[in-house]
Order: sequence, then C-alpha cells, then structure tokens
Amino acid sequence: VTLRNHHEVVEELAASALQAVYMHADPVGRMEALEPVVAGAVADPYWLGAPYQRVQGAGTYYLLWTDAESGVSLVAMTLGPGDETPIHDHLTWGVVGVYQGAQHETRFVAGGSGLRQTSSRPRNPGSVTHLLPPDDDVHYVRNESHGSSAISVFFMGANLGCTTRHVYERDGRSTEVVSGYANRPCAQQTRNPYFVSQFM
Ligand SMILES: [Fe+2]
Repeated sequence: VTLRNHHEVVEELAASALQAVYMHADPVGRMEALEPVVAGAVADPYWLGAPYQRVQGAGTYYLLWTDAESGVSLVAMTLGPGDETPIHDHLTWGVVGVYQGAQHETRFVAGGSGLRQTSSRPRNPGSVTHLLPPDDDVHYVRNESHGSSAISVFFMGANLGCTTRHVYERDGRSTEVVSGYANRPCAQQTRNPYFVSQFM
C-alpha cells in the first residue's frame, strides 16, 4: 500500500510507456516492457481517481493518457456488478491489469465459420494479462463481483476508443464500432458520448 495519488501514478505509467515505445518497435517488446509496470500499478488499489471508477454502462472506458505520436493509450474500464461486455476485438496489442473486482474473461478466435472459444478463466485483482491479434484479441469480460464494480487498467497499442473495430454476435456476425470514452469524445464515434453505453 502506498500513498501515491492518481496523477502521480498516471505520470509514472506514461513515462514508462514512452520509454517502452522508444526502446521497442515491436508489440511483443513493448508488452514485455509494460507488463511489470501494469502489475505494479494494479498491486496498489488506492490511486485511481473516483471520476474514473464510475459505472455508466456495460463497460465504461475512461482515457487516462495517450501519446499522440505512437497512439499508445492508458485506459480504465469499469463494469457494474453482474455486467458483461459484448464480445469485441481491439485490433492492437494490450497489457491488461485487474485493479478491482472478480472478473471472468472468455476469448475467441474469429474464423470463416464464426467464433471458436479458446479460453475462459477468472482474472483476479492484481493479475496482468496481454492481448495480441489475431489469436488473443476477441473476448468478453464479465464482472462476477456481487455488489461492487470491476475495474481494469490497461495499455493499448492504439487510441482504442477512437479506433474502428468490431463487436460480435455469438454466431460470429460482427458490427463496426467506435466506442469512444466516457470522458472524451472521438471523431467518427458510433455511440452517443452523452448517453454512455460503452464496452472494453
Ligand atoms: Fe477488451
């Protein structure tokens, strides 16, 4: 337990991300550099500012920081009790830490004949995992906590909320979306920023 506040932690994370971008051109190198950084951040469950913990739909994104040049972004996502995201992709690498709550993540590979489930497992507070297309990209996350929200903090290789990507039906049909952020609009956003229903 530390006494670091929101801005101190975000500054540290942003500096680490810029260093990872400078040191590594490839996604795997960037993810390997940032996994211990995210692990350190989610080991301390006291720093994320209250405005970034508010549930405003089934998976609410908050943009904490982004680097305009590389697109690397730091995002917090909240899920209300019992809520789950739709099945979706990200189309970029990600390093995801569980900040709070008992989450369960199910992954798929999207193929010609629809979605094939590849894993389904609990994600406990303090844990870190990564996303990398094409085999580790499509998933949904459910909050299994009763009475409290689940929060993830993650780096993504692109400005995720402003990127055109997809949500999927169980049968594999997909729809293009630009999810936006609850605290920042994006151009081409497909969901109304003032009536928030976002997802991770
Ligand atoms: Fe996701």
